[in-house]
Amino acid sequence: MTRISVGLNLIDCLWSVLALCFLVAFCAHKTSAYLPKLRETSGLFTFFQDLIRYGKTKQNLNRCEWLRVFDVPKRWFWHFYFVSVCWNVFLLVLLLNSTYQQQPYPSWLTWILEILTGVPSNASKGPQLSTVLVQLLFCVHSLRRLLECLFVSVFSDGVLHLVQYVFGLGYYIVLGLTVLCSDHTAKGTGTLLSQLDWIHVAGILLFVGASLLQHHSMVLLARLRTGKSGRVETLAHRMPKGSCFKLVSCPHYFAELLIYISFSLVFGGLSLTWWLVVLYVLFNQALAGQLSHELYISKYNSYPKHRRAFIPFLL
Ligand SMILES: NC(=O)c1ccc[n+]([C@@H]2O[C@H](COP(=O)([O-])OP(=O)(O)OC[C@H]3O[C@@H](n4cnc5c(N)ncnc54)[C@H](OP(=O)(O)O)[C@@H]3O)[C@@H](O)[C@H]2O)c1
Repeated sequence: MTRISVGLNLIDCLWSVLALCFLVAFCAHKTSAYLPKLRETSGLFTFFQDLIRYGKTKQNLNRCEWLRVFDVPKRWFWHFYFVSVCWNVFLLVLLLNSTYQQQPYPSWLTWILEILTGVPSNASKGPQLSTVLVQLLFCVHSLRRLLECLFVSVFSDGVLHLVQYVFGLGYYIVLGLTVLCSDHTAKGTGTLLSQLDWIHVAGILLFVGASLLQHHSMVLLARLRTGKSGRVETLAHRMPKGSCFKLVSCPHYFAELLIYISFSLVFGGLSLTWWLVVLYVLFNQALAGQLSHELYISKYNSYPKHRRAFIPFLL
């Protein structure tokens, strides 16, 4: 098992900056609630809201026509997972080839990993069970989300900002590289099976539980728009009810956080890089969850008072 290294490399800096950006955006949004004049009159405020909102939370944003030029349909969400499946299965194949056939990574990939980690490739300590498991679980996650986008979710005419769309595509590329970066700095030795630890099993169990929670939440959201026969009856945003929605407005965001925590456990709980990714997901989902929660509260008078935004009893 590896020890946490405190020296920050490029990949750690990247995730720290992203986490900080979303924390600042979350705080700025919360603060703006106390400045109603600014909300109504400032173009900068609208620009900021245009960048942080998407889908249902963007629908009531009063935007000038030129800002709509950058709108991309939210039903393109599947593109993110399609790119993720292609790229991360490719990385998984390279990883398995390097693990079982001792084939080195292509030189361009070695070069990228060296830049991101600041560690020369020959300093790598051999195949890591954690890395193979996380990359495999990440492929499973991306594939499930792709299938959900294509066959479960019912999308309305909501939109994303072009910046969010491009960010989303790049996100899944960088995330796959981040998994491999942990391989460069880890120090597990011996065969893959001999590295198996209780914490890997705990991580996999959490991953399965969180994935089931997220899938169930997606099914419940889709059912808000379909009749008993499965036919789409409306594209309106209704008040989510029942099951995990009793506690939070966005259980699927909570599940997303748990999925990333489960990867951290599979990394032995000691990969600083992956905890920074978890921090990014926490602030990102906190912002999206807060915006959805506020929308539901403003839209439904009967919205349950005890319901939190995305972390039960907490946030
Ligand atoms: N890791 C990351 O950085 C990251 C970032 C963003 C999202 N995600 C994950 O991606 C998944 C999807 O996120 P999302 O923000 O798109 O979720 P979302 O806004 O809740 O949308 C999910 C689906 O449910 C529909 N929907 C949402 N609220 C509804 C309501 N009140 N009534 C009826 N239908 C409703 C949406 O349709 P429309 O919106 O088309 O109306 C969409 O089809 C989540 O699990 C999230 O955790 C991850």
